[in-house]
Amino acid sequence: MKGIVLAGGSGTRLAPLTLAISKQLMPVYDKPMIYYPISTLLISGIRDILIITTPKDAQLFKDLLGDGGRLGCNFEYAVQEKPNGIAEAFLIGRNFIGNDKVALILGDNLFYGSGLSALLQKNNDPNGGVVFGYHVNNPNRYGVVDFDANGKVVSIEEKPLEPKTNYAVPGIYFYDNSVVEIAELIRPSKRGELEITDINKVYLEKEALHVSILDKGIAWLDTGTFSSLMQASQFVQVIEERQGLKIGSIEEAAYTMGYISKEQLHKIAKPLLKSGYGEYLMKLN
Ligand code: G1P
Repeated sequence: MKGIVLAGGSGTRLAPLTLAISKQLMPVYDKPMIYYPISTLLISGIRDILIITTPKDAQLFKDLLGDGGRLGCNFEYAVQEKPNGIAEAFLIGRNFIGNDKVALILGDNLFYGSGLSALLQKNNDPNGGVVFGYHVNNPNRYGVVDFDANGKVVSIEEKPLEPKTNYAVPGIYFYDNSVVEIAELIRPSKRGELEITDINKVYLEKEALHVSILDKGIAWLDTGTFSSLMQASQFVQVIEERQGLKIGSIEEAAYTMGYISKEQLHKIAKPLLKSGYGEYLMKLN
């Protein structure tokens, strides 16, 4: 299965932070934001990854992440010229996806918690589409999913005024290869974007949309506003300082998944010793 990280968008809700630099390069405590979604794909068993960025910041992402070889992965790059919506990722990534299945994760979504890796791996060979459901206080800010006792989706709506449930759809999606054809068919919404929810609605009509619930043992944070960005940093700091374990380390994820050897991990760690990050990697078993 292939993976796409969408790190486009204009970040207007974070201006002036985002006037000169992309949101997904900003720190979430001790690492760049994009580390978190990349590590989530890595622990899903996905290491062939397309990173879609704004044209302006493309080089910065390449400087940060390279071709993925040092992590035993393949990272490729593409640009989204304008913030035309999440679903455009499948059109931009058409050649990269080829005949494979594909997971999409938003570059500002942070997932953490017990059982996450197993749950994601369980879903990484879908027939149809898989979305996740996460109980939130303010579902009307998100895609909202309603489902039956068997986990079959009954409805999915984008930012409904009167949400049918409290289950928001986080920014991680797994699809079979028909997602590319579906993306070609959908048209821009009222806000002028190709909506991921419209893709999911097509799968729903075909009775091929499944929902997997992320329970309350899992944290899903987004980082699109000053407040949520700060909260994400604080969350990561609290957990990391208490446990002495890191969240969202791509190097640790690559090592844990067996993509790289301990020798390679140590090689990566050496230039990072002064910040403490390298020391952490050195100590991993
Ligand atoms: C997008 C999707 C929405 C989803 C959310 C997750 O919203 O349209 O369905 O719940 O990401 O972060 P946006 O960030 O474009 O407002």
